[in-house]
Amino acid sequence: MNYKSRMVYGGLKALNRELAKEEWQGAKYVILVDENTFQHCLPLLVGGVEALHEAEFVEVPVGEECKSLEVAAQVWQTLLESGADRNTVIVNLGGGCVCDLGGYVAAGYKRGIRHIHVPTTLLAMVDAAIGGKTAVNFGGVKNAVGHFYQPRLTIMDTAFLDSLPPEEFFNGQVEMVKTAAVADMALFEQLLTGKKISKQQIVEVARIKNRVVKADPYDRSVRHILNFGHTFGHAVEVCSQLPHGHAVGVGMLAAMYLSMKKLALSEEVYRAYSMWFKSRADVPHYSLREIEQMLPLMHQDKKNTAGELRCVLLQDVGAAAVDVTVSDHEVRDAFLHLGVV
Ligand code: GLY
Repeated sequence: MNYKSRMVYGGLKALNRELAKEEWQGAKYVILVDENTFQHCLPLLVGGVEALHEAEFVEVPVGEECKSLEVAAQVWQTLLESGADRNTVIVNLGGGCVCDLGGYVAAGYKRGIRHIHVPTTLLAMVDAAIGGKTAVNFGGVKNAVGHFYQPRLTIMDTAFLDSLPPEEFFNGQVEMVKTAAVADMALFEQLLTGKKISKQQIVEVARIKNRVVKADPYDRSVRHILNFGHTFGHAVEVCSQLPHGHAVGVGMLAAMYLSMKKLALSEEVYRAYSMWFKSRADVPHYSLREIEQMLPLMHQDKKNTAGELRCVLLQDVGAAAVDVTVSDHEVRDAFLHLGVV
């Protein structure tokens, strides 16, 4: 893998300095935005970065709607019509969906052009904009088509978070707690007990994710730890139509419960997380019928083999165990005990 990808923690000022460097000379920039980032973030980006003063921009639909082959084709068409060549750089200004689409477009155009992620949501800052996963949805399946294609730069500027709705912020907060849960006990405790998320903590989580991705860029081994709570969470997302972060938060409750029952996770950790989550979000109550509907969704998960459900669980905070076999009976038990201590 071409690992020229770099995190830039100094915000737009640092991007300004980066783009003045030799390797960007002669580049033509196309900024991908959605309706929200066009309104709230584009002026900040263009105003703050000299190389982008003359950039063109392309607006795509908000949210998952932009992650389609049709939208990708429209962007490619616009690039062709505007004479974009291999020295064109796509700048993805948005949340996870814009980053996923922008990376996909960049990977395909003229066999791959450079792209830069400028994440504007907390979730994208700590997850989607790091690690080179690009995708569009296809055939009714989320992220069915995509590549591993690293952004040349990922720029962290928390000023974009000022315009983020609180429920969107919470989605990112849950992913931060997830990353800390699998990698860093001290950070996990800070996140659960602190009043406000700090810029330093956001950077810390981004660094952890970057470190994990560098160790396993193609998601074949250690990167799996980042899926903690996601096998349950994806089923919750579909069944309860909850936002990703909220659903993963519920999924982590189930995974922590099983970690306590099957591995050595202490009740104290489970209790602390459960109280943190329940004081911020609703925990769904599932009937056995609903759980039976969620089980096949969990079995579809690409990590499973030979009909066995495999999950990431915790031996302890910072000590994740991947590929732990979980029976349907244990899944039912976990869903019936969500948040119960
Ligand atoms: N979101 C998990 C990963 O990037 O591997």
